[in-house]
This record gives sequence, structure tokens and C-alpha cells, in this order.
Amino acid sequence: MLGKAFAIGFLGAAATSAAQSTFEPSDFNVTEALIDQGVNVSAIPALEGLVERSSSSACSIACNSLQIIFGSGKVITQQSSAYDTFTASYWSVQQASVDPYCVFKPAKSSEVSVLVLLSRLTQCPFAVKSGGHAAFGGASSIQGGITVALEKINEVTLSADKKSASIGPGNTWYDVYTRLENQNLAVIGGRVAAIGVGGLTLGGGISFFSNLYGWACDNVLSYEVITASGLPITASPTSFPDLYWALRGGGNNFGIVTKFTLSTISQGKMWGGGRLILESNFPAVITAFYNLGKNAAQDPNAAQILSFAFAQNTKFASADLQYAKPVSNAPILAEYMAIPAIQDSTRVRSLADLTVQFNASNPNGLRETYWAATFKLDKDFTNFIQTVFFDEINAIADAPALIPAATLQVITVPQLEKMALHGGNPLGLSASMGPLILLNLNMMWSSNSDDARILKANSNIIRRTVAEAKKRGLANDYVYMNYASQFQAVVPSYGSGNQQRLKSVAAKYDPAGVFQNLQPGYFKLDGAPDGGMP
Ligand SMILES: Cc1cc2nc3c(=O)[nH]c(=O)nc-3n(C[C@H](O)[C@H](O)[C@H](O)COP(=O)(O)OP(=O)(O)OC[C@H]3O[C@@H](n4cnc5c(N)ncnc54)[C@H](O)[C@@H]3O)c2cc1C
Ligand SMILES: *[C@@H]1O[C@H](CO)[C@@H](O)[C@H](O)[C@H]1NC(C)=O
Ligand SMILES: *[C@@H]1O[C@H](CO)[C@@H](O)[C@H](O)[C@H]1NC(C)=O
Ligand SMILES: *[C@@H]1O[C@H](CO)[C@@H](O)[C@H](O)[C@H]1NC(C)=O
Repeated sequence: MLGKAFAIGFLGAAATSAAQSTFEPSDFNVTEALIDQGVNVSAIPALEGLVERSSSSACSIACNSLQIIFGSGKVITQQSSAYDTFTASYWSVQQASVDPYCVFKPAKSSEVSVLVLLSRLTQCPFAVKSGGHAAFGGASSIQGGITVALEKINEVTLSADKKSASIGPGNTWYDVYTRLENQNLAVIGGRVAAIGVGGLTLGGGISFFSNLYGWACDNVLSYEVITASGLPITASPTSFPDLYWALRGGGNNFGIVTKFTLSTISQGKMWGGGRLILESNFPAVITAFYNLGKNAAQDPNAAQILSFAFAQNTKFASADLQYAKPVSNAPILAEYMAIPAIQDSTRVRSLADLTVQFNASNPNGLRETYWAATFKLDKDFTNFIQTVFFDEINAIADAPALIPAATLQVITVPQLEKMALHGGNPLGLSASMGPLILLNLNMMWSSNSDDARILKANSNIIRRTVAEAKKRGLANDYVYMNYASQFQAVVPSYGSGNQQRLKSVAAKYDPAGVFQNLQPGYFKLDGAPDGGMP
């Protein structure tokens, strides 16, 4: 209806260079910025009278405006089957139960700019969804606000020299790996098919290949990000390097990333799968876990994820093992492979195929909680974690459909060394601290009447293991964003120097606090999303 007026152009070069000194002037006019984006504000009567003040009908105005500007193909409203399909696309029921006023599906970054400015003008809050795998409600969804689903921003483009790939945050890792594998290439990303590029990469990102290349965030060459003023900028080691640093683990606090340019790696077929191990072999599996974690540098092709879990009244361990080459008998994995397994799915296969196997054990449609803690790698302490876990789940074992797990990984010295790449990241970790145990408690269940006691069991396990680690001199403050619960303070765990620096980067690029206040979900720069630790 508004025709060519909406042919949107990016703000010109003059605006970009002015931004280097004062990123957003104190007299920044949101209405004028929208007009600069090609939005004919005077053609939308409800917007015209709004001068950056909140209104009880804020989200009605914002969602209607999005529909007028972009058409109903990009805006989903309540009480439609598309709306129900959308909310069901989250992994956890807690996120699927959140009802946004509308869902906006931008197809390009300029449309994201308009969204940010419309939110500012109307004061309608928003949330951003990539793969939708954050577990707690409101992480990438927003009650009564605008959920911005990035699924249409899904390019996967190799550079001419094939050394990097530009990847839209609307992709899942399965999409990315299947697009690159015919070239025998991959990138550093997630290990489960349906995880999104956006959340995993902004929080850190542990891959099967992290002992070789580091975490996902340390393999990002540049980010295209829409900032609070709607300005698209490229953050890299040479362009807005402070923002580039902040995005490598700082989460959703600085802008909406519309493109990740990732280093590619050569990657053909690999080896991997899971081995199911009974309780009688726990001592052997803990020794194997410890040795592989400690000796990672001897052969960084190998990787492991060790879960202790409880199902059908039985304690068991699941050792998910990987090797980056199509080799089924790597010497470094021999100790693990000598432990008897009652089931074994390890084989030579593609990366995408392995992510599909792990996807199958993480279906949508259940209640979910994730928790994180970090400790110095220690064999006795690994055993201690396992005993506390099984002790605490006694109190919840009767919850219907409960599958509780304590998943252990090692943040190895090779991984920590790579965190210094490209000027370092804000996570507050260094090689001298390593190797570290990364504990991820993860539980799925079906009834909300069990929420309170299940969350309590998780917080008890974290409390008890952290207290014991302090006694033994094995404590490490780091809380991994991608595994943390809503009750955990992630950004403060990076250390006060990093937290302060992240805050000053946010103040520079987002002086009005748009990404703190109008996008309230997930891990903000202060404290935990929910102060009510169970
Ligand atoms: C089954 C399963 C397997 C997992 N496997 C791994 C793994 O192998 N390695 C690992 O490190 N972690 C893993 N995780 C943790 C995972 O990294 C986090 O859950 C992550 O948040 C998921 O990203 P997402 O895009 O799917 O989530 P979302 O819920 O869509 O996003 C998470 C947060 O990031 C923000 N966000 C997303 N995209 C953008 C963007 N483009 N710009 C700004 N903000 C954005 C969202 O607003 C939200 O706050 C796994 C989780 C699950 C449930
Ligand atoms: C912002 O710009 C609009 C359009 O030019 C104008 O009507 C409005 O008064 C300006 N607002 C402020 C606070 O200056
Ligand atoms: C903006 O909308 C108004 C009101 O509909 C119209 O008169 C004007 O011509 C439009 N401007 C542009 C540039 O399209
Ligand atoms: C991953 O699992 C989800 C949820 O069960 C499913 O919708 C999706 O199709 C799966 N993806 C792949 C590539 O297997």
C-alpha cells in the first residue's frame, strides 16, 4: 500500500563516520531515523502522534505498523495457525507457552533496523529468536511483545577463496553443515542439528572441533549487527573492535546480529557416536574422562561429552565420543573404548549426520532446564559431582517423563589458548586456569506441577558442588551463558573488569539502553534474569 516509499536504503557513509565519535547523539530522533529508513511515518496515523512515549496500546500500534510496512507475510498475529506453528517451534514448553502480541519475520537487515526503531518509538518490547533452543521462558520469546524470528535471514555464502562463510542467524547448524559439506568444508558450530547459529555463537559455542580451532565465538571474523539506532555496522578486529570483542560471548546485549562471517575449516567425514555404560564402570569412565581432558593437546582431533543420567530406575553414563577424521581406532580414545558398553552408535559418518543423531534425543515439547558451573579438572571431584547428582535426583525421580542428566565436558587447554585469538574475548578464561570441567545439568520432564522441586534439585546440585569445589581449591567463577539457568548471573561471572568493559561498550553503542530495557529477556549485563534462586 505504501509502495516505493519503503524501498529502504541504509544510512549513508556520513552517518557511519559521525557514529565513530558519538555513536548515537543525545538528540537522536527515532521518528527521523525511521523516515531515513524509508518508512513514511505520516502515512501511519497511529505512529505520527507518538513521540517516543509509551502507550498502553504500544504493541498493537507496533504490530499494525509492521503489517502496514512489510505486509502480512512477515507478521503473524494471534489466533492463527501460523502463530501456533510458530510457538511450537521452540524447544522447551516454557518458551512455547509465551504468547507474543505478534511475530515479525524480517527477511533482511534493513527490516531489522525498522523493527528496532518501531520498538523504540512505540515502547513495545521485543525478543529475538534464532534456533529457539534457550530453555527458559522469555529467553527468545516475549509475552505481549514482538518476537523477532530470524528464520528468513538464512544465507550461507562462501567467500571466493572459500576461507570464510557468511551465515545468517536464521540457520540451524544442520542447514549450515549440509550446505558446506559438498565442498568438504565446515565451520565451528553446534553439535545438535536444530540449534540456532545466533544464540550458540553469541554465548560462546562449543563444537566437536573446538580442541583444534577453539569455540565458535573465537572463529567469527566479523559480525553484521543492527545497533539501537537502527544503524547496520560491521564489527571486526579492524572495524568497531570493541563491539567485536563484546559480541564474542556477550550475548544479546549489543544489537541484533544479521550476519556472522565465520572461518571455514576443511572437514570431510569424521567418526563419532555414543556409548552407554553401566554404573559398575563409572570409576573407569571417570578416569577416561579425566585423562582425555588433561591430554587433549596430544591429539586435538578427539572430543568428548560425558553424561551421567537416570532412567528406568537405572544409573548410567553416556560417553559421546568424536574424532575429527574418519578413524575408528584413534589411540587417544583407546582407554574409553576399552570400557564395556551396552549400546554403541559410534561409526564413521558426516558431521551433519552426527548432529541428527544427537537431535533425536532432544525433542521439542517437554519442560526443560539447563544449569552451568565450572571447576578445575580433577578426577576425585568428577566423581563427587556424579554422587551429588544422583543423591539430589532421589527427591524428584518419580516426576513423570523426567530425564535428568549431569553432562560433563572439559574446557581444555587447547580451547582456552584459542580464546586469545583475534584480540581475546570477554569470557574471563585463560589457558593458565585450565583444564576445566564444564558441568551442564539438564533435565526434561512433562508436568509444571513438578517445576519447583526439579529447579530446587538443580540449584542444590550447583550449590553443593560449588561449595565443595571452594573447599578443595577447585572453584572457577565462570558460568557458561549457553548452559546457564535464569537464576544464574552470567555476565558478572566473566569477572568485574570484563563486565565493566562490556557495560561501557553497551553504553557507547546503545546509550538509550534499548537492548537492556526494550529487549528484557535472557542474560543482561547485571545479575541473573530471575533473582529468585530456588
Ligand atoms: C539440545 C541442545 C544442544 C546443544 N548443543 C550445544 C553445543 O553443541 N554447543 C554449545 O556450545 N551449546 C549447545 N547448546 C546450548 C545452546 O548454545 C544454547 O541453548 C543457545 O542459546 C541456543 O541458540 P539458539 O539460537 O538455538 O537459541 P535462541 O533461544 O533462539 O537464542 C538464545 C539467545 O540468543 C539471542 N539471539 C539469538 N540470535 C541472535 C542474534 N542474531 N542477534 C542477537 N541476539 C540473538 C536470543 O535473543 C536469545 O536471547 C545446546 C542446547 C540444546 C538445547
Ligand atoms: C523528531 O522528528 C519528527 C519528524 O521530523 C518531529 O516531528 C519531532 O518533533 C522530532 N522530535 C523531537 C523530540 O525533536
Ligand atoms: C507519505 O504519506 C503521506 C500520507 O499518506 C503522503 O501524502 C505522502 O505523499 C507520502 N510520502 C511519500 C514520500 O511517499
Ligand atoms: C531436530 O529435532 C526437532 C525437534 O524434534 C525436529 O523438529 C527437527 O526436524 C530435527 N531436525 C533434524 C535435522 O533432524
